[in-house]
Amino acid sequence: MTSVDRRSFIVSAAGLAGAACVAPQILASSPSVANAAQGGDKYSPISLDHLKGGLEGLSAGQLEEHGKLYQGYVNRTNALLDKIAKMTAAGTHLNDQKMPVPEYSELKRRYGFEFNGMVLHEYYFENLKKNGGELAADNPLAKTAEKWFGSMQNWWDEFKATAKSPGVGWVICAQDPRSKRIVNSWVTMHEDGNIAGYHVVLALDLWEHAFVGDYKPTERGKYIAAFEKNINWDAAAKRLA
Ligand SMILES: [Fe+2]
Repeated sequence: MTSVDRRSFIVSAAGLAGAACVAPQILASSPSVANAAQGGDKYSPISLDHLKGGLEGLSAGQLEEHGKLYQGYVNRTNALLDKIAKMTAAGTHLNDQKMPVPEYSELKRRYGFEFNGMVLHEYYFENLKKNGGELAADNPLAKTAEKWFGSMQNWWDEFKATAKSPGVGWVICAQDPRSKRIVNSWVTMHEDGNIAGYHVVLALDLWEHAFVGDYKPTERGKYIAAFEKNINWDAAAKRLA
């Protein structure tokens, strides 16, 4: 993995982002990308410093705690890759019948959870911005939403309705790179519900840890309203094909 570009690795491993996507600035400048460019083989977390203390309705403390949780996904992704590689190299991944041992199979199952947990957080943090403002009618995302949903408001209302679905996970507005259609989908945990080949356009973290520092667990609606005030619409639009 030493020469793997971070963005292309995301494509192959998670099936979420695409090579056709413009690499978001925050990811392109992240330590993990620098690591990969220099032949490193570990992911490093992106910085959230530029967001702390400036978001409306999402406190610096909330962001600080969320960043620690995100760091955990980075650490466990690295650890998983290391563990899997060592077991494979040592031959301890197979039993006497040349079948995967349960631990190895479980590590393989776990990878989508940890890796997607890392990457979806990066999309989420990147699509936050101080003084985000409203989606402008001439923004490419607004035009795409109008094409597929009839109006920008229809698309956004559906996104928010999806976000109020009970459960732990994410709402992802994602684009089919073939038809260019965008959809709002629910992703349970981090890995169940991602649509194969679709590119992430806008990510909203709906695990309670994303907001319980500022709101009660029953106040998801207030969190969604706060998210709406802090969206980096330009970052989302740049992800469109
Ligand atoms: Fe989160």
